[in-house]
Amino acid sequence: MTTHVHAIEWLGSLVRLLDQTQLPLTESHIDTDDPAVIAEAIRTLKVRGAPAIGIAAAYGVALSSRHPAPDLATLQAHIRSDISMLGRTRPTAVNLSWSLRRMAAVLGRASSVEDARTSLMAEALAIHREDAEMCRRIGEFGSALIVKGAGILTHCNTGALATGGEGTAQSIITHAHRQGKGIRVFADETRPLFQGARLTAWELQKAGVDVTVLTDSTAASLMLKGLINVVIVGADRIARNGDTANKIGTYGLAVLAKHHGIAFIVAAPASTIDTSMASGAEIPIEDRSAEEVTSPFGFRIVPEGVSVRSPSFDVTPAKLITAIVTDGGIHRPPFSFPAAER
Ligand code: MRU
Repeated sequence: MTTHVHAIEWLGSLVRLLDQTQLPLTESHIDTDDPAVIAEAIRTLKVRGAPAIGIAAAYGVALSSRHPAPDLATLQAHIRSDISMLGRTRPTAVNLSWSLRRMAAVLGRASSVEDARTSLMAEALAIHREDAEMCRRIGEFGSALIVKGAGILTHCNTGALATGGEGTAQSIITHAHRQGKGIRVFADETRPLFQGARLTAWELQKAGVDVTVLTDSTAASLMLKGLINVVIVGADRIARNGDTANKIGTYGLAVLAKHHGIAFIVAAPASTIDTSMASGAEIPIEDRSAEEVTSPFGFRIVPEGVSVRSPSFDVTPAKLITAIVTDGGIHRPPFSFPAAER
């Protein structure tokens, strides 16, 4: 039985996305069979979080296959154009290109229009189902690292809203909570889009977890006071050497954790490991628009004409990471994930 919220649901002929830009005030949904609407939802963070982006895009490809086409070659050309539209939405989370590559491979093997439609739908559902299973395994493995009464700091949102299941870092948190470990969670608000304040706090409150929201600059002082015992974050892309891209601010937390002798744990499904990249230096970092910083919720807080830099992610060097928890288990440094087969 699942008790968590669902970011993405397949309704039989439509996909339903929970519009995360409206949370926590309004639970509204986007029901669509249009791949362009899904692409726009990804670009604008209505659906967000590395695994969820990959799942939404997979449904976009499956829906693209409904396009009327006289023959397989015409349909394949149409779907390939939608695959590249979906692939251009956000650059950092590798789960997007991973999922689109899986869908493209299925498309390439299709023997007829009907076969393409059936097999792409089956693949999208499999990607969704497998992610839920990976979340469960991450929670089971990772919760072993959490001691009773731990103060846990987390950043951004890594829960059900960001995945096809119970989350990644957040699955570890909810597993530890259900194991009766009496944990206390500190959720960074996560500027500029407030995924921690709006989404993580909403999810953890619903799950009955003791959660306290912090401004992004509060962590150091709580670490000094001994209130934080472990930092757990998700990932958008992990290079073979363990360097990890995640929401902007993650690197700073890793530096702080090292200084205070606190464990820094990354949690992600195997689909977040980019086996084509040797190190984090190769990871593309998304720049978001200045307006997200200057005008939160449409209210201007920065003087007109002042320039803004808004990288959406940063890269934490592997040497600052205590453990990487995947659905395969707990990985310890030195990290060395196998290279992609060519
Ligand atoms: O810009 P977002 O909200 O998509 O960023 C999300 C994150 O950085 C998450 O930590 C990451 O995708 C892991 S989600 C399980």
